Amino acid sequence: MSRVLATYNIKGGVGKTSAAVNLAYLAARDGARTLLWDLDPQGASTYLLRVQPRVRGGARGLLRKRGDPSGEIKGSDHPGLDLLPADFSYRHMDLALDRFKRPTLRLARVLEPLRDQYDYILLDCPPSISLVSESVFEAADALLVPVVPATLSARTLEQLCSVLAGGGPRLLAFFSIVDLRRPLHRDAMARLRAQHPRGMLGAAIPCSDDVERMGAERDVVASFAPSSSAAFAYKALWCDLLRRLEGP
Ligand SMILES: Nc1ncnc2c1ncn2[C@@H]1O[C@H](COP(=O)(O)OP(=O)(O)OP(=O)(O)O)[C@@H](O)[C@H]1O
Ligand SMILES: [Mg+2]
Repeated sequence: MSRVLATYNIKGGVGKTSAAVNLAYLAARDGARTLLWDLDPQGASTYLLRVQPRVRGGARGLLRKRGDPSGEIKGSDHPGLDLLPADFSYRHMDLALDRFKRPTLRLARVLEPLRDQYDYILLDCPPSISLVSESVFEAADALLVPVVPATLSARTLEQLCSVLAGGGPRLLAFFSIVDLRRPLHRDAMARLRAQHPRGMLGAAIPCSDDVERMGAERDVVASFAPSSSAAFAYKALWCDLLRRLEGP
């Protein structure tokens, strides 16, 4: 039975996709059968893994399919790493979900037949809080939340904690796009670690040109810049995450 991990934040541009693609690669490199489902109509993970943004029947078709969505899964250039791509029809995912009787359970249903086929399923979520996010909360075992260490991000994290207070997946946050030369970042990190002693992972992703270069390389940092600080940081994040998932 696979573990379902979602990179999620209400905020945009915080490193969800960069983390999803790099962590999925690292999982596959460790020998785990790994699927990344790009849930964002922007299709950034689809683009980074060099897959065509095309889903037969669109979001509606995929949600409606009885049985198995395997027909829409594509291989990537990396052994063990598959992708369920996004296309622009995903902008209507909320509407498509809303047609079902219990809309928030639908994504979990779509994933059901895949859970024996993969060890890890990563969900790269769009920024927002919507029916899609609520469905992700039902489907995921853990939410990986990138947090840029600044005041507004901290506020968003509080909002998310209060949304999940009544139950839901485990929330594991990590610092993203960190610039340790900036006192503002250092202060925000210390404050947030004190406020969320169990919820913040130890590893942090630095602000790095190598992460930005992913768009040009259409590849993961561990593959095109294996000795970069960003590659080490994603590896540390993956190890940290596995430790937490194994622990209480
Ligand atoms: N650690 C980093 N250092 C430098 N740039 C980064 C870092 N992480 C992400 N970026 C850049 O910031 C932008 C947004 O990153 P990314 O797409 O991973 O975020 P996102 O949260 O998925 O965004 P969206 O909300 O639009 O889906 C991209 O241009 C990416 O290259
Ligand atoms: Mg994204």
